[in-house]
Amino acid sequence: MSATASRPSADPAILRARRAEDVVVGEEIVRHRLATRVIHWTVALFFFLALFSGLPIWTPLFGWMAHLLGGLNVCRWLHPWAGALFFASMAVMFVHWLGEMRLEPRDREWLRPQKVAAYMKHQDDGTEGGKYNGGQKLFFFAAALGAVGLLLSGLVMWFPLEFPRMLRELAILLHDVTFILFVLAVVFHIYLGTAAEPGTFHSMIRGTVTKPWARLHHPRWHREVLGEETRRP
Ligand code: HEM
Repeated sequence: MSATASRPSADPAILRARRAEDVVVGEEIVRHRLATRVIHWTVALFFFLALFSGLPIWTPLFGWMAHLLGGLNVCRWLHPWAGALFFASMAVMFVHWLGEMRLEPRDREWLRPQKVAAYMKHQDDGTEGGKYNGGQKLFFFAAALGAVGLLLSGLVMWFPLEFPRMLRELAILLHDVTFILFVLAVVFHIYLGTAAEPGTFHSMIRGTVTKPWARLHHPRWHREVLGEETRRP
């Protein structure tokens, strides 16, 4: 038997998820095409590289982390470059997702505390929110703003002789406050994308979700993809 004949045929949903998005393939729905997933994981990679090389510079409490990357001197050199690459990949992600992340009046409605609480308990009525809900869109814009703050303050610290002392001190404060908020937001993001909503992580790996997942977490998007409602951002 030839090698080609013995190879199992590729999963049609995975093949479709290379290029297409928001399409139904059998019992699955393609949520994130390959380009989206590659961009997202590039952002995550540079985020963690910048974090792990930055924490040992910040405080000796995280000194042990420096050993993972070859020592404190390597971290001092690596951190600004990892940060710059994080910003560049964030910029690509921003442009890539902007069309789907525009805030609509119904997203503002979704962000009301009662609605958020209902969503967290899977009790929302599903009338608001499309492919991405108000919380996801807010995280998207907050992350973009945070990346700009980290870049600007980081540049001041990278080239300290070019800036007055007052600005250098402000930059340190802005960099520290922004990265702490960013880490807290990313921890919550990871929790929502894994433990809190089983099946979501799968969508960023394989590209697909099940129909019950879509109906539960993004009912309007589910109806739109199935052709029961006209698509809106
Ligand atoms: C190990 C770390 C991470 C995991 C497990 C993770 C997981 C995920 C998953 C599963 C989604 C898809 C959500 C959906 O389809 O509804 C997603 C979306 C997204 N991720 Fe991540 N992610 C991680 C790190 C990051 C980092 C570092 C950023 C940096 C800004 C980021 C930014 C985003 C954004 C903006 C979205 C779209 C909005 C949203 O779904 O919240 N992610 N992530």
